[in-house]
Amino acid sequence: MAGRQLPATIRKLVAVRASPKFREILSVKTEPTPKPGDREVLVKNRFVGINASDINFTAGRYDPKAKFPLEVGFEAVAEVVDAGPNALYKPGQAVMYLQYGAFSDYKLVKDKYLVPLPELKAEYLPFILSGNTAAISLDKTGELKPGETVLITAAAGGTGQIAVQWAKLKGCHVIGTCSSEDKMKFLKDIGCDRPVNYKTENLREVLKKEYPKGVDVVYETVGGEMFDTCVENLAIHGRLIIIGYIQGYESDKGYIPSRTLATLPARLLPKSASVRGFFLFNFAKDSAPYVMKQIQYYNEGKLKSFVDLGEKASAGPFIGLEKIVDAVEHLYSKKSIGKIVVDLNSKDLNSKL
Ligand SMILES: NC(=O)c1ccc[n+]([C@@H]2O[C@H](COP(=O)([O-])OP(=O)(O)OC[C@H]3O[C@@H](n4cnc5c(N)ncnc54)[C@H](OP(=O)(O)O)[C@@H]3O)[C@@H](O)[C@H]2O)c1
Repeated sequence: MAGRQLPATIRKLVAVRASPKFREILSVKTEPTPKPGDREVLVKNRFVGINASDINFTAGRYDPKAKFPLEVGFEAVAEVVDAGPNALYKPGQAVMYLQYGAFSDYKLVKDKYLVPLPELKAEYLPFILSGNTAAISLDKTGELKPGETVLITAAAGGTGQIAVQWAKLKGCHVIGTCSSEDKMKFLKDIGCDRPVNYKTENLREVLKKEYPKGVDVVYETVGGEMFDTCVENLAIHGRLIIIGYIQGYESDKGYIPSRTLATLPARLLPKSASVRGFFLFNFAKDSAPYVMKQIQYYNEGKLKSFVDLGEKASAGPFIGLEKIVDAVEHLYSKKSIGKIVVDLNSKDLNSKL
């Protein structure tokens, strides 16, 4: 790969002002191609991951003091194309990273943030953010133990698919919620013991009838009525992990208070149950070992990884920087299965957003 011709400029997506309305606020910024400094590399992004929180980030909910224009996107599978002095990786190396500003065709990254990969493959992408969220939160925050009953919400999504499999690998009984028959089939295929399509079955009734002792651990990503149902059905010593509250993200407020909140102490106390928050960025030291463990399990065939490149989406397939907005909207359509990924290997990256 030595002597590779690099472009004179790079392109990145930026949000020009704070708002969750992704399509309205995104712009393409062009800059001279940077030269890597000491222990830095320039990577060419191949696959970038879409996350529910892409719109939380642009809304300024991660950092209320964030300065705009704000570089967006969190993660990519990429190839090193230029390396600075003393960099650990050479041009040609496939890598993966978690860094703000990943929605760009090229990016400068410090070598300490890179995870080396055997090849440029989209299926590795779910592990670094979505998979780490699932695995680290279930282990460290949920204190998941073999034989426990676990409820995973949005179980067929980017992080849900890994949460289901991680809990199964741990020897747990897994209940998973979803909203379509396609997702029900998907959940059965990845080993979910009791998929529940909440559009056709009443989750509260299913839990009361089939799990009268309650659920030991809940991986809760939805909020609102889903949060209430999960709190009501916690077992003695049950732990509910707040992973997200997606039902509020598209609104300007972000969070919509749920009915159960006002009575939370009275509901938790008699069960010695707890509600615990989890945010991946507070678990930086666990990131590398957990991502390496998932890659190992994937290579051994113990963990599956599903990516949605938009082949079945009306605005798909998701190829090129200009498709990122469509891919984010696909996530909010509730139709995606697995991790939504955009392939930047487009011939024409100069088309309009
Ligand atoms: N705390 C952290 O560090 C962290 C890190 C990563 C992700 N997360 C959270 O994990 C959750 C899932 O994120 P993801 O990126 O992996 O997305 P995703 O699960 O791939 O996609 C979102 C899914 O959420 C479900 N959903 C339920 N109510 C929804 C609503 N009102 N609007 C849109 N979707 C709804 C849909 O599946 P159904 O068919 O099941 O309804 C939808 O397919 C989010 O809450 C996110 O913030 C948190």
